[in-house]
Amino acid sequence: MVINLSEQHSLVSNWISELRDVEIQKDRMRFRRNLERIGEAAAYEISKVLPFIEKEVQTPLGIATCKVLKEQPVLATILRAGLPFHQGLLNFFDQADNAFISAYRKHNKDGSFEISLDYVSCPELEDRVVIISDPMLATGSSLVKTIHFLKEEGRPREIHIVAAIACTVGIEYVKREEPSVTIWCGDIDDELTAKGYIVPGLGDAGDLAYGNKVQM
Ligand code: URA
Repeated sequence: MVINLSEQHSLVSNWISELRDVEIQKDRMRFRRNLERIGEAAAYEISKVLPFIEKEVQTPLGIATCKVLKEQPVLATILRAGLPFHQGLLNFFDQADNAFISAYRKHNKDGSFEISLDYVSCPELEDRVVIISDPMLATGSSLVKTIHFLKEEGRPREIHIVAAIACTVGIEYVKREEPSVTIWCGDIDDELTAKGYIVPGLGDAGDLAYGNKVQM
């Protein structure tokens, strides 16, 4: 299932437009904060499909029957661009467990690349709800590789992917490889360059959030 948060009018579209804007995106703090805000909005939307239980809460005047999340999800993100996005999800799922994955594109001379997965730290995943955030779902290969890796650590009951901008090709690839995953995205673009950048997209999310890197 794919949920495009831009299909309904909301502030998410405003924040996406600021992320894309070649002038506004020069302000790194605003860029990171906009990713964080989209993460917060996505967390709120995802919470609507998670299981809740009733809990009796003692107020100063009586007992209220409240609905609370039945269990804490695991929030996983792919370094480094995922960090501000992850923080947004964590601001709302504030008691969640967390997983960090370092996956990067190892470029070949002909412009092609493979995904190298270097570092993973994750909690128990068996029977858990796992929410993986990656601001740019481009080819989908790092996400699929991450999911394969996480599934070897334990079998999550449900996996959600959250992206600020997703590309149609990447969405199709993830759907083909991992049909049970739900994809939540801020917007969907149709084009991907030979180097795996989304068009019109926004550029390199990691560089915009944290500055240019020297590694290719
Ligand atoms: N990662 C980015 O930062 N931007 C893209 O367009 C694709 C992948």
